[in-house]
Amino acid sequence: MEFQNLLIENKERIQYIIINRESKLNALNKDTLAELHTAFFEAFNNPDVGGIIITGAGTKAFVAGADISEFASLDVAAGTALAREGQKEVFDLIANGNKPVIAAINGFALGGGLELAMACHIRIASETAKMGLPEVTLGLIPGYGGTQRLAQLIGKSKALQMILTADMITAVEAQQFGLVTHVACPEDLLIEAEGLLQKILSRAPLALAAAIHAVNAGFTDGVNGYETEIAEFGKCFGTQDFQEGVAAFLAKRKADFKGE
Ligand code: COA
Repeated sequence: MEFQNLLIENKERIQYIIINRESKLNALNKDTLAELHTAFFEAFNNPDVGGIIITGAGTKAFVAGADISEFASLDVAAGTALAREGQKEVFDLIANGNKPVIAAINGFALGGGLELAMACHIRIASETAKMGLPEVTLGLIPGYGGTQRLAQLIGKSKALQMILTADMITAVEAQQFGLVTHVACPEDLLIEAEGLLQKILSRAPLALAAAIHAVNAGFTDGVNGYETEIAEFGKCFGTQDFQEGVAAFLAKRKADFKGE
């Protein structure tokens, strides 16, 4: 599908999804969110795609937030619907995806931009990146999962400090907090992201999906993560990838996983 606000690039089994509204610092308007839904849905269902790297066009911003110009006319019902639909169609879709998604944070990741990065499975940042949830400066709170995912990732106390002050943190601080796993110089950011994803893609694809599902289960209300782990662990024994992984280990050769 052709997108107006996204660039899609494929490099072997890696798909790049690049948010391409540079003049607006890649802010997430309704159209961009709809395109993100379609792009991720297609990527998760495309057997040629093993994993995804999402980043922002240009050097200044990953995503500087939801598009504030679209907020002005919203009332209580419309605001509630915006958050509910956005969470379901984009942010939860990514978080619960069956393929690994890495956010390569190349600049400002604010508000919905940081929420988008936090919905991804792994985050790495350029040393020029700045991250924050500034919604309270607008009379709002994060609405795309930010109050939940930031607290899960860095702990309640630091999350509340970031959300209540609206302060931005640097990439180095984000790494110290555990919000990003790695900081790279700007020119190396995508090289590092690709290296990390290539390594992940050498592992068994169905096991990757099972691991994402099991880890997420522990953060889902009403779901027993240990039970999910047991079920996913058991299911792995029924895959050809498991047969191949064990056979390759015993034969001292590299496994050739098919995702079956
Ligand atoms: N929504 C809509 N437009 C946005 C935007 C957003 N979240 N963030 C940036 N833009 C637009 C600006 O309005 C400006 O557009 P214009 O050139 O048509 O006036 C353009 O992107 C460049 O931004 P600008 O503010 O001029 O850049 P800057 O370098 O001075 O400041 C930021 C950068 C990120 C500090 C600043 O843009 C900002 O605070 N953005 C909003 C962040 C935010 O509150 N996000 C949470 C939303 S819930």
